[in-house]
Amino acid sequence: MIVCVCRRVSDREIARHARAGMGFEDIQFELGVATQCGQCEGCVRDVVAQCGTCPTANIKLASNLLEGSAWQTSHSVSQLPLQHL
Ligand code: FES
Repeated sequence: MIVCVCRRVSDREIARHARAGMGFEDIQFELGVATQCGQCEGCVRDVVAQCGTCPTANIKLASNLLEGSAWQTSHSVSQLPLQHL
């Protein structure tokens, strides 16, 4: 869905940047969202807030996987293919 009509930027593109660790101001600078009419700012901030925690959660999950505390399994982490880490 297009979030910023002025710059034709979708929520998926904003989310992709947020998951890469960019904050609102970084995304605003990079994509130009909320730089013209400003009507999209609240929605952009909502998308960033929802996705901004994803990298941290993924890092924490990966850390737990390496420690073997994420969940009980019959396979050790060293047996998992790299694509699962
Ligand atoms: S809709 Fe994003 S600046 Fe106008």
